[in-house]
Amino acid sequence: MTAIMDVKTNPGGNFNWISPIYDALAFVVFGRKLQQAQALFLSAIPPKASVLLVGGGTGWLLEQVLVRCRPERVLYLETSSRMVARATRRMAHKSLLGMVEFRVGDETSLRSGEQFDVVITPFLLDLFSENTLQIRLIPRLLSALKPGGMWLVTDFVAPSVWWQKILLWAMIRFFRLIAGIETRKLANWQQYLADAGLVLQARKSQVGGMVSAEVWVR
Ligand SMILES: C[S@@+](CC[C@H](N)C(=O)[O-])C[C@H]1O[C@@H](n2cnc3c(N)ncnc32)[C@H](O)[C@@H]1O
Repeated sequence: MTAIMDVKTNPGGNFNWISPIYDALAFVVFGRKLQQAQALFLSAIPPKASVLLVGGGTGWLLEQVLVRCRPERVLYLETSSRMVARATRRMAHKSLLGMVEFRVGDETSLRSGEQFDVVITPFLLDLFSENTLQIRLIPRLLSALKPGGMWLVTDFVAPSVWWQKILLWAMIRFFRLIAGIETRKLANWQQYLADAGLVLQARKSQVGGMVSAEVWVR
């Protein structure tokens, strides 16, 4: 495992201490809807793919990827060492450990020349400011995606309904306070993926329109 991140070095915040209650919190607010949205396009992943899963939290999606997609290799890249510990325990419990490399770190922890058929970012892009997305996160992850490769994104999008606007505002405030995420407002990540040269292949609106599950291709 590479260097352990902390809130000072990671604009995506420090999710260590919230890790024991993160899944329960998400369930209280959204039920299973956030998980369902993340799994929508897993069937698009070809068998024997190499997969980079970034910011997977406690590992629910990782288990789905391993069981449903039969990948050749998965790199689980997470800045929170406690989230990684939870994901590791979950995979050990299901006897799925051998198929995954767990790495505590962020996009800068990717090694030069490391490339994948599929990149997955579940509720990751919403943590960052426009600047970080454009200058750092999207370019680094894009360079780890093979030409013709697929980037599966599930994330919040700007809502039009008043109560969703309030909920999103409250969530950003909460995670700024608790985890120290840098962003103050939801960045237009769809625009930045397009600006980076990715092409949108499929999109499904979820959770009453406040979440979008998307497939982008390099
Ligand atoms: C909002 S949580 C989402 C967790 C999980 N995907 C889910 O939906 O339950 C964001 C996760 O991304 C991780 N994270 C934040 N910045 C990151 C980065 N630059 N690279 C990798 N992981 C990051 C956090 O530690 C946290 O576990």
